Amino acid sequence: MPTPDRTLRAVNLPADWSPQSWRNRTAMQLPQYPDAQALEEALAELRTLPPLVTSWEILSLKQQLADAQEGKRFLLQGGDCAETFDGCRSDVISNRLKVLLQMSLVLVHGLRKPVVRVGRFAGQYAKPRSADSETIGEVTLPSYRGDMVNAPDFTPESRTPDPRRMIKAHARSAMTMNFVRALIDGGFADLHHPEYWNLSWVGHSPLADEYRRMVTAIGDAVRFMETLSGSEVHNLNRVDFYTSHEALLLPYEESLTRQVPRHWGWFNLSTHFPWIGMRTAQVDGAHAEYFRGIRNPIALKVGPSVTPDQLLRTFDLLNPEDEPGRLTFIHRMGATGIAEKLPPLLDAVRRDGRRVLWVCDPMHGNTESTSNGYKTRRFRNIRSELEQAFELHAAAGTRLGGAHLELTGEDVTECLGGARELTESDLERAYKSTVDPRLNYEQALEIAMLIVRKQAQIAAPA
Ligand code: PEP
Ligand code: CO
Repeated sequence: MPTPDRTLRAVNLPADWSPQSWRNRTAMQLPQYPDAQALEEALAELRTLPPLVTSWEILSLKQQLADAQEGKRFLLQGGDCAETFDGCRSDVISNRLKVLLQMSLVLVHGLRKPVVRVGRFAGQYAKPRSADSETIGEVTLPSYRGDMVNAPDFTPESRTPDPRRMIKAHARSAMTMNFVRALIDGGFADLHHPEYWNLSWVGHSPLADEYRRMVTAIGDAVRFMETLSGSEVHNLNRVDFYTSHEALLLPYEESLTRQVPRHWGWFNLSTHFPWIGMRTAQVDGAHAEYFRGIRNPIALKVGPSVTPDQLLRTFDLLNPEDEPGRLTFIHRMGATGIAEKLPPLLDAVRRDGRRVLWVCDPMHGNTESTSNGYKTRRFRNIRSELEQAFELHAAAGTRLGGAHLELTGEDVTECLGGARELTESDLERAYKSTVDPRLNYEQALEIAMLIVRKQAQIAAPA
């Protein structure tokens, strides 16, 4: 049952903002479409297509994030670095959902609070790149910017940005969304049946025993409650699941930015929870301009070069009313940088008394290349950044309220280490990512267990 929109109309509802006003600013990381007319036609078609999410869902997520800001919930946000059109398959989608559900079970059980579940999917198709072009031998072509823009093969046809790909991305996102919604509505996330989420290849995982013990404990608790109340506990049959992606390709985002009959203002209806990536986070840039006018909860990646002053200016721009649930900062400093870079930012925001949800992305500051040419991340660095994040927040009097992870339910070997101690020579066995390396199922579950242990340690220091 939808709740009424009680949020006051922002006093400063930006009068000088429109879904197009970002076009007057410098936009980083946007492709050059060679055919302007084809671009216009694609955008015109997108504007007529139905949205992927609703304003009611967006506002209910905002409320959950407001709860997380007060420490009443923990945010789990995870999925691929980049979705691909080929990866829009039932096994890929359901395996990813299974991992996220298992992780959230571990977190709910261990943290004793509800989890806000947000997937990096149903729209995570555009990527920022460090260079606009790539040269191999004598040939220079545009960089691959995600399936929503072009294709990865190194040919002029594949690399030329094609606006029709936005229509395909919208359709794939809708299919993904449809399948996830159907699974969840059909009882896939039912706590009475955590066995639905088992992944067949896991077999003899070193973590399996700990996970099974947890599932048994939860099953016992559920049965106990049901015996006590004499009936089935129905709200355990389904969970809320939300989507997010980096809202990088502004023409696409603009075309799905709509007004709705029962709520004031503008909503990005391509996803519940868009974020601004680190490379497009300039306060005076086009992305910040676009984001300031939409009513979705929004997140901003915060990298090691951000100063306290910049962060506070971003605050003024993106959340001038200090609205609950509106703003999330996802810090991604790297295991060697976080101890130096994070505390000044935490102090500045805390002293200013502003409301924010702090989330740690322990992936993007820890990317490296191996001697055999793979982009990878070491599990021990991911773990170290996350553990330090808990400690630094505790020391600063702030709260780490969530984790942002790149993961997959597939049996890949992309990150080094973890319970099975993957080595550099394992990488070639199952390296499937076209962009950043992801945690596999086991490594992802290990991170969830680690969060629980670390949180307990912070709460009750030895
Ligand atoms: C990402 O999340 O895939 C990404 C590109 O992150 P960042 O903007 O933090 O580098
Ligand atoms: Co990434």
